[in-house]
Amino acid sequence: MTRTVYVNGDYLPEDEAKVSVFDRGFLMADAVYEVTSVLGGKLIDFEGHAVRLKRSLDELEMAEPCSKEELLEIHRKLVELNGIDEGLVYLQVSRGSDGDRDFVFPSADTTPTIVLFTQNKPGLADSPASRKGAKIISIEDIRWGRRDIKTVQLLYPSMGKMMAKKAGADDAWMIEDGHVTEGTSNNAYFVKDGVIVTRPLSNDILHGITRKAVLRMAAEAQLKIEERLFTIEEAKEADEAFTTSASAFVMPVVEIDGVALGDGTPGPIAKRLREIYLEESMNAAI
Ligand code: PDD
Repeated sequence: MTRTVYVNGDYLPEDEAKVSVFDRGFLMADAVYEVTSVLGGKLIDFEGHAVRLKRSLDELEMAEPCSKEELLEIHRKLVELNGIDEGLVYLQVSRGSDGDRDFVFPSADTTPTIVLFTQNKPGLADSPASRKGAKIISIEDIRWGRRDIKTVQLLYPSMGKMMAKKAGADDAWMIEDGHVTEGTSNNAYFVKDGVIVTRPLSNDILHGITRKAVLRMAAEAQLKIEERLFTIEEAKEADEAFTTSASAFVMPVVEIDGVALGDGTPGPIAKRLREIYLEESMNAAI
């Protein structure tokens, strides 16, 4: 089945969808994005993603391409047209183009480019990867200083993922000034003596939509949470660890830099949080 994608108001077969070579998303990574998961054909935490998109656009003084209601309609229509039961909706908004390359922003009335497409991922909720747990390595964080804005500058995270693969691992956690910031495409946590530790929100990390939901659910389940800076050495000595993201929900981490955590299998708190998150999110999906 040819995938139907959305580009600037049109629903098109993927091979007919086109964006200008002068688009600033292409030339300058001058674009922001969101990834929303789909379970049971419904969107998980659409509201959170829509609010964060607006914030990213505002921070970069980029125009909103359409209203939240229209965005929801586009998401739903793409899910339906592509028959997605479990998967993801990718959304990207760029500053558009005024038909040339220039470091100066084009005039404020330039039409932004908006693209959405779906990714079909059967088995996303009950994934074999989550049952096995992830092996991670640590790498230096050399990204720019506004990681709270969800831009498409993903070259370094992508390189980090490749470094992990080359080392026989699944993913990388990044370290700045001696402290873990986050994973290449997820927020990072460890658990020691029943306490969940994760880095507090700042411009240094993406304010994960899954992070917010999981921390709320953990608090409701009477689990202790400490939002503070932590080192990779602390994480290596932890009882367990995990990551959160819209694309992998709560993903247990079983090994850091070759050191097995606990008995080297997914920990009980990560497994429980994954279950709670999936159940509650599916109930609230729209
Ligand atoms: N990534 N940190 C980074 C650097 C991320 O790229 C992501 C998400 C997260 C988790 O945020 P959320 O819970 O809102 O998905 C944290 C998406 C999934 C991606 O790039 O595909």
